[in-house]
Amino acid sequence: MSTRLNTEVLIVGSGISGLLCAIELAKSRKVLILSKSHTDDCSTSWAQGGIAAAINDQDDVKKHAEDTILNGHYICDNESVLKIIKQGKDSIDLLIKYGVDFNKNGKNLKQTLEGGHSKRRIAYHNDNTGEEIHTSLLKKAKSNKNITIKENIMAIDLIGDKDKHCEGLYAYDDISRSVITVQANITILATGGASKIYQYTTNPDTSTGDGVALAYRFGCTISNMEFIQFHPTCLYHSKEKSFLISESLRGEGAKLVNPDGEYFMNKYDIRGELAPRDVVARAIDIEMKNNSYKCVYLDISFKSKGYILKRFPNIYKKCLMLGIDISKSTIPVVPAAHYTCGGIRTNVSGETDCPNLFAIGEVAHTGLHGANRLASNSLLECSVMAMECSKMINRKNIPLREKALPLWNDSYVTEGCDENILISHNWAELRKIMWNYVGILRTDKMLNRAKEKLSVINSEINEFYHTHKISKDLLELRNIIDVANIITDAAIIRKESRGLHYNKDYPVTKDEFNKPTELKNTKKDFIMKLVSKA
Ligand code: SIN
Repeated sequence: MSTRLNTEVLIVGSGISGLLCAIELAKSRKVLILSKSHTDDCSTSWAQGGIAAAINDQDDVKKHAEDTILNGHYICDNESVLKIIKQGKDSIDLLIKYGVDFNKNGKNLKQTLEGGHSKRRIAYHNDNTGEEIHTSLLKKAKSNKNITIKENIMAIDLIGDKDKHCEGLYAYDDISRSVITVQANITILATGGASKIYQYTTNPDTSTGDGVALAYRFGCTISNMEFIQFHPTCLYHSKEKSFLISESLRGEGAKLVNPDGEYFMNKYDIRGELAPRDVVARAIDIEMKNNSYKCVYLDISFKSKGYILKRFPNIYKKCLMLGIDISKSTIPVVPAAHYTCGGIRTNVSGETDCPNLFAIGEVAHTGLHGANRLASNSLLECSVMAMECSKMINRKNIPLREKALPLWNDSYVTEGCDENILISHNWAELRKIMWNYVGILRTDKMLNRAKEKLSVINSEINEFYHTHKISKDLLELRNIIDVANIITDAAIIRKESRGLHYNKDYPVTKDEFNKPTELKNTKKDFIMKLVSKA
């Protein structure tokens, strides 16, 4: 049975950007937040490091901006960089106002160092900053009468008129297994990244690129998706596949060592362990491939146990549960997909090409990260975008809707009885293809092979989608195949190496590619197709 929901503002996603934007908007608007699983299942909760902001005497906005642009290999949008970095203090103050408890030294916030930063500028809460931020914001949002949060509801596709004015979306209720038509004057995508598209990732299962897939199918411009950031140090353990070993360990002096006992980072970059992430992840990848190592190791055991317990309590506990005492032995690590630097093209307020549709946080591409995100700039971007987006929407005179959008109609499709096998097989296959052919090191041959393999899976999924009843797994699979194609297409277009995109056939950076990649779905029949399904 199909139902309808009406809201002034709809936010899809319940991470830092979705929650903060909702809290700010709820001062004058009614907000509905949809979370596709439980509200705790988001990348924000898993973020360990912290939030970068030039707020101490040794630092300033100019230095932070310079580090960001240098790490971004000169394809950042300098206007966005400045606008976001200038608001570091404001966003930290706002988070503190909403209950976030950053570690302090007397009255001042403690700040740590991470790769690519020339100053100690990462404000943090132990080694679980994201969890602290998320818990505080969720509590605040839940107690606000103007905010309604609905869990287990996943966006399917955006709805709009022929001029791409967004009018809401179809959403799948995973509990009642029915489709809801959500009518919204303003729709904000805050769905996070797409790292789950890769076989190895530091992200939760929810990072399936939903927002990018929805926006692409709707007709928004998608930018720089070839720049997938691989975090150098994901725990390598058979029982724990996605646990991050925070970069702040290297910030506090931890060293990378290969299984032959060699401290290898200085061979690759004079900045050693504190070189930018693209450099460190590639160095580890080369060490592993050239020597057939299964992993390398991170060593912080030279610090006292007391220090480690106080500074990295969660990492210590997690590793100990798996039999690794990090105060005595090294930690096995491998690189893993961590952050989507590209996304839906927006300005800092989250405005997309399509009227009434906004995108904020990791799903968006403001140009802050360029070809490689500077560590801990993401929570900063998320909070600044949430603040700017809410300001922009609060200034808007939102028109009242007159027409009722069509209900979903799937009376002509069949139950998906063989669905589980198809979904799990294609899901595993797709993630392997992306890891092997569109990973840290790429070549033209690898990228073209990926396209061929993806095209077979693409046809299978599309055929299945249009003839069977939907499920959350099928919707996620449909999104990840679309985003896998977008990443591969963008990687094929960029015939150079820059930051996170390394193509062995074009090992140098070229001036002609000194700009973001842009992809747009030009299929005119999309809305028609959607209506015929609906
Ligand atoms: C980390 O703690 O290493 C992650 C921080 C980030 O991705 O910015």
